[in-house]
Amino acid sequence: MRIVVSKNIGFCFGVRRALDMAERLAGARARVCTLGALIHNREVIARLAEKGVVTIERPEDAPEGACVLIRSHGVPPDVADRLRARGLEVVDATCPFVSRIHAIVREQHENGRTIAIYGEPGHPECAGVNGCCEYKAVFLRNPEDVRALDPGLPLCLVAQTTASAAGYEGICSAAASYMHDALVMDTLCSATKERQSEALRMSASCTKMLVIGDKCSSNTAQLSQVCKKGCDNVYSLAKVDELPLEKIHADDIIGIVSGASAPDAIIREVITRMSELDKTMAEGPVENEEVKAEASAATVEELVVTEPEAKPAVESEACCACACECEADEQAPAAVEPEADAASETEEAPAAKAESAESFAEAFEKTMVRIKNGQVLTGSVVQVNDGEVCVNIGYKSDGFIPRNEFSSDPDVKPEDIVKIGDKIDVEVIKVNDGEGNVLLSRKNVESKKIWDSLMQDDQITDKVFEGMGKEVVKGGLIATIDGIRAFVPASQLSTKYVENIGDFVGKPIHLKVIEVDKARKRIVASHKAVMLAEAEEARRQKWAELEIGSRVTGVVRRLTDFGAFVDIGGGIDGLVHVTDVAWGRVKHPKDVLSVNQEVEVIIRDVDIEKQRVSLGYKQLQPKPWTMADQKYPVGTIVEGKVVRIVPFGAFIALEPTIDGLIHISQVGVKRIAKVEDEINVGDIVRCKVLDVNVEAKRISLSRREALLDEHPEIVEELAAERAERDRANAERAEQRAAAEASRQQQQQERRTAERADRNDRPERRERGDRPRREENDYDLPPVQSVSTSMADIFAAAIGSSEATGDKEE
Ligand code: F3S
Repeated sequence: MRIVVSKNIGFCFGVRRALDMAERLAGARARVCTLGALIHNREVIARLAEKGVVTIERPEDAPEGACVLIRSHGVPPDVADRLRARGLEVVDATCPFVSRIHAIVREQHENGRTIAIYGEPGHPECAGVNGCCEYKAVFLRNPEDVRALDPGLPLCLVAQTTASAAGYEGICSAAASYMHDALVMDTLCSATKERQSEALRMSASCTKMLVIGDKCSSNTAQLSQVCKKGCDNVYSLAKVDELPLEKIHADDIIGIVSGASAPDAIIREVITRMSELDKTMAEGPVENEEVKAEASAATVEELVVTEPEAKPAVESEACCACACECEADEQAPAAVEPEADAASETEEAPAAKAESAESFAEAFEKTMVRIKNGQVLTGSVVQVNDGEVCVNIGYKSDGFIPRNEFSSDPDVKPEDIVKIGDKIDVEVIKVNDGEGNVLLSRKNVESKKIWDSLMQDDQITDKVFEGMGKEVVKGGLIATIDGIRAFVPASQLSTKYVENIGDFVGKPIHLKVIEVDKARKRIVASHKAVMLAEAEEARRQKWAELEIGSRVTGVVRRLTDFGAFVDIGGGIDGLVHVTDVAWGRVKHPKDVLSVNQEVEVIIRDVDIEKQRVSLGYKQLQPKPWTMADQKYPVGTIVEGKVVRIVPFGAFIALEPTIDGLIHISQVGVKRIAKVEDEINVGDIVRCKVLDVNVEAKRISLSRREALLDEHPEIVEELAAERAERDRANAERAEQRAAAEASRQQQQQERRTAERADRNDRPERRERGDRPRREENDYDLPPVQSVSTSMADIFAAAIGSSEATGDKEE
């Protein structure tokens, strides 16, 4: 047995795309529904339903808040508008082939042409197309319908994507010969044509044909009809269980084709079962080792083998190849009935018919562009949808630019760049991707243009390009320059060592081209070169801008004994000499400045030749003593460092350029003999400002006051001592007063006695009495009061001597 699998098998492009979109929406939206069944396959629909994608039949059935997916057939514009008017999200999965017809019909309807559609009026695709011309289209089913029209009518003729190519040719020929102004558009789906023509070729060389697809799928039924033209044994099956195994023999050549909505899983099962059957058949050699070996392969594409030698092409009949809702039976749809075509053909003389068909084919062929891989063409955009762009390149089928072939920048959205009707240059990547689609690339064309323009530029190495970091590779970074890949070695990424090259990925980067290999189309670029050039330019500009006396902002980079180096930008470091660091005397710049400190400095001198800049820092600082009275108000507590001790006090550095003096009497709370008894050089002390004399540059400080203010317990202690001292003093004063009173009384008594004695003396003299002194007779000293005071003792002694003197006197 030999098994031949069609190359055009499984989902068509439009159906696969719609399914992918449904799957994506199911994961991203809460409620998703499709307007009509997305595909004619119950298993797939059931699987989608499990994921929350339900099928509705009418727009009104869409639940509130749902996301409505328009299937590949498309819908009339007003249907989508009604859904949007309800606030529903509408996601359009209309097949680009169908969308192209919409665009054509809209445009030609606006141009005043009558739209004629070759297709089934009840087919949803035709209904959608009709909606694009306000439902004013006329439907044509055979050439007779054309002749029923007004020949002067400006006509635009389109066909349902899956209509019969032969039938459409007949319609077009009739229109060309009968109508005065007929615009004929080739809108047939190339994928369907490819599928059917391949099935026809295969059926001519196979003994049995297996057509996989759902029973209600009209395109599957159509495919069966096509196969029957070349093969008498055609079997349709929707699942593997329906294989007619009993009718298959070892010497059979089995052809396997499928409708556009047949899932890969079923196709794989059928092929596997057939291979197993082949193995079990004893009789007959195994002809198709390749298929058997690969029967369990994961993808259908891997199972496809080269078809038998093709026979001359036979026109395939029309079908609804996509996931339409046609309730067609195994027979072809009415719109594409071969009988209808045949009937029309019988009305023309065979010679005329042959001539007409030939002329149409020739004319049609003449309008077709011949294309090959790598060819660059200019086409017009006919649709932009979900990142893919459909382009009319004048070929028999439109081409598609996949998202990754639109631009080298993955962030670019095609819808932001192009719109329908735009002319763009594209390169043919594949004339046929296996489904009759032409794959195009805009990215390649753009890249080539940019490369050519880059290579024409003699000054390329002098220019700076805006690039974009893309990926980390061994030894560096891959970046893009206008879409052209460029290698940036790690050593050329920065002027500094780059620890993580990944930091550049996804970020814009300025690049300079440093090496070009035209033969291999390779560019080596450098960001470091840009940085160095920018730094040099900034440096040059900075030198030009430097103006003596102007202020600049910089960062302290280095401190030395003789000054501070300040980076003032542009790669220029200026020097602030130590004498220009502060107004006062500064031993080292670090006393005032610190590394990495941002400072404002004044340019004092510029020597461009020697590239030296002298800066001043203190010049922009207020002179310290001018603000001292405001900075250190009298009565405030300040803190400073003891920097010098002298016999009369200590000098306290309040700041590098302002010292205050604590007099020795203000150093401690008690009287001290020397300053060092309380404080030493280097101590940090708190003092109270007693006086500020700005002119004399003097600040008087008191540590004693600060201590008393800040330590109430010391005040209490001192008060207690003072009270005790006062009490003792009062007591002594009292004693002194008492002693004095006693002494005065004694003096008084003594004087009284003396006076009395003196008064008696004349009488005694008259009598001649002389006072006679007895031997050992003497005057007793007055009684002295008890005193501990030396003063009292001295006073008493003095009083005694006075009394003695008086006596002697
Ligand atoms: Fe589109 Fe053709 Fe399929 S029109 S949906 S690709 S059969």
